[in-house]
Amino acid sequence: MPALLTIDYPGPPPVRPDAVRDTARRLLRLCGQSESEWSILLLDDAAMAELNERYRHKKGPTNVLAFALREGEPFSEAPAAGSPLGDVVVSLDTAAREARQEGITLHRRLAVLLIHGLLHLLGMDHERSDAEAEEMEAAERELLRQLDDDKRREKMIQLAVNVDHVATLRQARGIAEPDPVLAAGICELAGASGIVVHLREDRRHIQDRDVHLLRQTVKTKLNLEMGATEEIIGIALAVKPDMVTLVPEKRQELTTEGGLNVAGQKKKLGRAIERFTSAGIPVSLFIDPDSRQIKAASEVGATFVEIHTGRYCDATSEAERHHEFDLVATAAEEAFEAGLRVNAGHGLNYLTTARVAALGTIEELSIGHAIMARAILVGLDQAVREMLALLPRG
Ligand code: PXP
Repeated sequence: MPALLTIDYPGPPPVRPDAVRDTARRLLRLCGQSESEWSILLLDDAAMAELNERYRHKKGPTNVLAFALREGEPFSEAPAAGSPLGDVVVSLDTAAREARQEGITLHRRLAVLLIHGLLHLLGMDHERSDAEAEEMEAAERELLRQLDDDKRREKMIQLAVNVDHVATLRQARGIAEPDPVLAAGICELAGASGIVVHLREDRRHIQDRDVHLLRQTVKTKLNLEMGATEEIIGIALAVKPDMVTLVPEKRQELTTEGGLNVAGQKKKLGRAIERFTSAGIPVSLFIDPDSRQIKAASEVGATFVEIHTGRYCDATSEAERHHEFDLVATAAEEAFEAGLRVNAGHGLNYLTTARVAALGTIEELSIGHAIMARAILVGLDQAVREMLALLPRG
């Protein structure tokens, strides 16, 4: 039992005990104290005021009090593994007030206060000197960042389906079918967490009409893939998709070939990102698995990067595939560490996807061709039978 939680609050407590225990356990692990034990007591302001008076001779409540079992021992000497560390007491009323002031959730404020308390239990004390106060603040920020990363890694990976190929088939005939808007609805009903379409300058597959209709019909998340040209930026700002993914676009290419050279056009991309961000539209940059591009993406203010998985998927030998996979894995880790949200895609199929999906740093995969190709094959039998059913039988 590494985190003993007691809630002594009049009425239903405004926090979820499981979430508090989970945060407490993670914090112990992040401090290398998985085997140790700390007690957490959550109270109201009246009870906290009593403790504050009794132990600190101060009037009124405070947000957090820590009672270390190894009071006075230096932080550098970590407590022996498995030892009880002490108690941290938090006033939920004060924490809730502070949360409101900062515009954050009570659980988030509580995490910050628990971190503060835990560092006290481990021997840090901001009251000893200015230098130690600074050191403790830095440790708090770092632990909060690590806690966020720890939780992000466990998020379930999601699938966004690219329906461009449905439009490609429609455009090949120049008629109204098949309709990517209907296809998008089917993908969502099947569990896709988002729909991706690429509105190309040459309109070879997705048309303006599709984007406008999808904006009205997509219930999950519409991700508009696009080149950063003035015309398409204007359309995107008018349509307001849930996010945009900026890609390089060449007229002659069959599909997006490489990632964006973010490092080489930071000013231009920075300006485009600024326009989208002020319109409340997060931007993803489609990049090769390359440290330079990740650093640049972070510098120009992107929210997401989408790591290009094409070379990994197209590898023709095991050795090459391993090498390309390592590049994707390292890039995803670097982007994650840089605080970017990480997606990945291009060329992923039924053989190459699982390994990328297992990385833990990637939020969402964007997949089109493999799913549409498979849909034709698994749907063909039924399509033929449905047509046969229309024919008169003798
Ligand atoms: N991500 C981006 C940026 C793309 O350009 C594409 C292709 O449209 C995809 C993902 C999906 O690639 P695929 O169709 O090979 O699954």
